[in-house]
Amino acid sequence: MSRTPLRIVVGITGGIAAYKAVSVVREFVKDGHHVDVIATEAALQFVGRPTLEALSRNPVHVGLYDDVAQVRHVALGQQADVIVVAPATANTLAQFAAGLAPDLLGNTVLARRGPLVVAPAMHTEMWENTATQANISILRSRGVVVVGPGVGQLTGSDSGPGRMCEPEDIVREAYEAVSGEAHHDLLGKRILITGGGTREPLDPVRYIGNRSSGKQAVALAERATNRGAEVTLVAAHLEVEAPAGVSLVTVSTAAEMHAKVMSMSADFDVVIMAAAVSDYRMDSVSGSKLKKADNGGELHLTLVENPDILKELVSSKSTQQIIVGFAAETATETELIRIGQEKLARKGCDLLVLNQVDWEQGFGTESNTVTVLAAGGDILDTATGSKMSVADTILDCIATSPFHNA
Ligand code: CTP
Repeated sequence: MSRTPLRIVVGITGGIAAYKAVSVVREFVKDGHHVDVIATEAALQFVGRPTLEALSRNPVHVGLYDDVAQVRHVALGQQADVIVVAPATANTLAQFAAGLAPDLLGNTVLARRGPLVVAPAMHTEMWENTATQANISILRSRGVVVVGPGVGQLTGSDSGPGRMCEPEDIVREAYEAVSGEAHHDLLGKRILITGGGTREPLDPVRYIGNRSSGKQAVALAERATNRGAEVTLVAAHLEVEAPAGVSLVTVSTAAEMHAKVMSMSADFDVVIMAAAVSDYRMDSVSGSKLKKADNGGELHLTLVENPDILKELVSSKSTQQIIVGFAAETATETELIRIGQEKLARKGCDLLVLNQVDWEQGFGTESNTVTVLAAGGDILDTATGSKMSVADTILDCIATSPFHNA
């Protein structure tokens, strides 16, 4: 949290997620900052002016031609330490990318001196549209901080990427954007991240897999990109969209992931093995669909061990490289650290991110709880919260590692 009181402009545009922007305003005010809300006419269809005025403790600005004598459209932008637009509709993003200023918010954004943070919210099709993606790339290339969107339930019964990120994540990114330095602490670093779960085919129609969704790896990729790193994501069956601005390599099996990662790793400063990699594969994959056996109801499969990518990365790493492992364990809380320390010693990586998993927690959820162990086994940090905030804690550990700063 920023300790110096800031002047923050919160721009609210016309999307259903506008109701969540109310919490963004409340958080900033609670932290002692001066908040000016600029709402578009469309935003006021979704959330009432009195609510925003009561929470921001300031009049809400809407019209370009209100208080013209005070040149408000220039003053708000010039004075703001940061402008946060949440939700940012596809139309708003297109306007910002084109430099259009049809309303007070557009003018304020053009007149700003400080950073701009946008939290997109829209239907999946609109987010995935090439026009929106091109606009996002333009905005990112100009240093605009793009928070999300998250993946999940949208307005209707559908779900997918397009959901506005949680207010706590937007607020945190705004503070980081203001502090600037912290925000780009990974500038110039090349980071390779693996994510998702590998699948080992049994035959042309079946596989052995796991429940990893890849959400934590995607959050790491997004946060590392926003913090200035050049990120490559080696993805195995992600359930979520890879973030914009990340170079994506898709694989399916552990062997494919092994081949890709080992061929690329030397070019990276940091390798984060967040993927759930299958330890075993079929000794031989059937070319045709396996038939139900007539031998008393049992099927015996012979599995052979896959290469341990993390171990190989450690044994081939350069002195400056940081290799990060993950360990998802079903252990009790008291056993967790000991099991993690043993795994860390066995794998030899520089950091190990440890978390508890069971039928309900760890996989596919929006939040996570992790403990980060340093090479010697000491607890470096712990984090509980959205996968984005957990990603930041992990990246903080990397950014402050002695290797990184060597
Ligand atoms: N990992 C890997 N290659 C494998 C298996 C795992 O690189 N063939 C990596 C994972 O990406 C993770 C770490 O090793 O970063 C720990 O994975 P995990 O499955 O917990 O470790 P295992 O050595 O397989 O131990 P366990 O007996 O607990 O399965």
